[in-house]
Parts: sequence; C-alpha cells; structure tokens
Amino acid sequence: TRTPVNVTVTGAAGQIGYALLFRIASGQLLGADVPVKLRLLEIPQGLKAAEGTAMELDDCAFPLLRGIDITDDPNVAFAGANVALLVGARPRTKGMERGDLLEANGGIFKPQGKAINDHAADDIKVLVVGNPANTNALIAQAAAPDVPAERFTAMTRLDHNRAISQLAKKTGASVSDIKRLTIWGNHSATQYPDIFHAEVAGKNAAEIVNDEAWLADSFIPTVAKRGAAIIEARGASSAASAANAAIDHVHTWVNGTAEGDWTSMGIPSDGSYGVPEGLISSFPVTCKDGKYEIVQGLEINEFSRGRIDASVQELVEERDAVRGLGLI
Ligand code: NAI
Repeated sequence: TRTPVNVTVTGAAGQIGYALLFRIASGQLLGADVPVKLRLLEIPQGLKAAEGTAMELDDCAFPLLRGIDITDDPNVAFAGANVALLVGARPRTKGMERGDLLEANGGIFKPQGKAINDHAADDIKVLVVGNPANTNALIAQAAAPDVPAERFTAMTRLDHNRAISQLAKKTGASVSDIKRLTIWGNHSATQYPDIFHAEVAGKNAAEIVNDEAWLADSFIPTVAKRGAAIIEARGASSAASAANAAIDHVHTWVNGTAEGDWTSMGIPSDGSYGVPEGLISSFPVTCKDGKYEIVQGLEINEFSRGRIDASVQELVEERDAVRGLGLI
C-alpha cells in the first residue's frame, strides 16, 4: 500500500477551504489511487469551525483519507508536508492601504514560509491562493532559503479557466477544444490573458476571433474583473471555482500537462520573456514528472508586450514594497 501524502491546507475554515477539503479527500488533488493525510491550519478563532469540517470529512467515509490533524501552529501544520495549499490570508478591508495589506500578509506568510523551510518534507510543493497571491508566495519563498525556490507557486489557474470559458463562449467551441491559453503577470486586475498563441479546435484563436476591440474591451476586462463580478452577484467572493482551480493547479503540476497543451502558473521567473528574475509571475508552463518548465520561444506582439510589461511592473512595485518593509 502507498504511503499517504501529507497535504496541509491553511485557512481551512474559510469558504475556499470548505469547497476544497472534500475534493482533496476524495482523491481529486493527486489522483484516485493516492491516499492523503490532511493537516488543517487555522487561527485560534477558526479552530472550532475547522473541527466541524473535519467531522463532516469523517462522515464522508472517503477511502483515501487516512487522517486529519487540526492546529493553529504552523510548525505542526507543515511538519512532513508534501503539498501545502496556502489559502488563509488577510483580506483588504475598507480604507486599508497597499502597504498595510502587504504588511499584514507578511505577518502570515513569513512565519509560514519559515515553518515550511524548517519542517516540510524534501519534496514539498507550495501553492499560494491567498491574496495578493504572487507577492505572498514571494514572501513565503524568501523565508524558506533551504527549499528550492521553484517549489513556491501562486495561483492564476482560476484566471486561466475563466479565460478558457469566455473564449469558448465567444467562438462557440467547447472548453476542451481550447488549448495553449496563457495568463501572464500578476493575479490582479493587471493580469493579461493571451489568446495569440491559443488554439480553438487546432486553429489559432486570435485569427478565429479576429476582433481586437473584443479582446481589448470585452475579453481582457471580463477575465480580469471576474472576481469583482462574482462578489457583486453572489455577495461573496469566488469559492468553489477558486477551490477547483487549486485542485487543477496541483493536479497538473503533479500529473503533467497534456501533450500539445500548456497551463498557467505563477512561478519564480528565470528572466524569460523579459520578466525580472525572481519575481513570481504567471507564465505558460508545461508540467511533467512533478516539474514545470516555462514554454519558450513564443513570439510576443506589441499588443501583448505592453500588457505583460504593465502587469510585471505592478509585481516589481509589490516586491519593492515588501522589500521596503523588510519582509523579503
Ligand atoms: P475566508 O475569509 O472565507 O477564509 C479565510 C480563512 O483563513 C479564515 O477561516 C481565516 O480564519 C483563515 N486564516 C486567516 N489567517 C490565517 C493564518 N495566519 N493561518 C491560517 N488560517 C488563517 O476567505 P476565502 O474566501 O476562503 O479566500 C481565501 C483567500 O483566497 C483570500 O485571500 C482570497 O482573496 C483568495 N482568493 C484567491 C484567488 C486566486 O485566484 N488566487 C481566488 C479567490 C480567492
């Protein structure tokens, strides 16, 4: 029998946590033959609700679920962790400046990064979901010098999936016909969903759409502002779709991308496509054998260049701000 994989989820009592844990326990994160042990990290006020969720997980009698630990201590939560999903974060509240937001999140992601550094398993893979995801991932990574930097990733898969869905609607194709879509940059309103290399049933998506006004005025803003539109409609932020994207991100990272396709992940830049080295920015990546690689050699047209640069500039500013705060 296989040894269970230790999966740590922070913010386990939150709404994404509630949508995520049952899917992990049912085998959708890693594979239908991989047993898992769950570690739930919450702040003290969240522990009771996390215990309630653990009771429900028990009540599902998932064959792959080999145990659940609940704690408010990051050193316990990340001990032996193979996969860490960092979901809990400090949201921006009214009147909060960016510096305050970054500082509050530094107080969460710096100690968690250190706990990962000191206690996680050697093969640890980290996905940061909690916003500002890219920069929170940078903070955690900087606090974990003994862990290879590339193990720290940030989630842009929800943006990727949103863009696929919008493009499928526009072209009348099914989502499974859409390949090679890319989200570049930051998981924020400046992100750039790129269809110039995407394919719809094997044909170039930008050529099929052939409508730059739709791209600039409809597609890009719809994808980039989808989170706000969900809040407006639902009265709460995206939860099930965010959990779904987290499942997709880790599943793809571990199990690979399909031949001829790629996905989008926020990852430490190696300088590709003019993105300064070390920034955690979204790129087109292929995954194989538990590792990812940036897709190389794509031609970046002027339309794309300006948008990638604008989002990367925002990441530079966030990095400089957390550097100024001594968080990295
Ligand atoms: P939520 O507020 O329902 O849950 C957050 C949970 O985190 C709470 O239970 C809270 O007690 C816990 N928490 C706070 N600080 C913690 C700490 N230091 N350690 C452990 N747990 C802690 O929020 P929700 O809706 O679940 O969203 C979580 C995060 O995901 C937010 O930052 C949100 O902005 C982000 N998000 C990111 C998306 C992406 O595409 N990257 C998409 C949607 C949401």
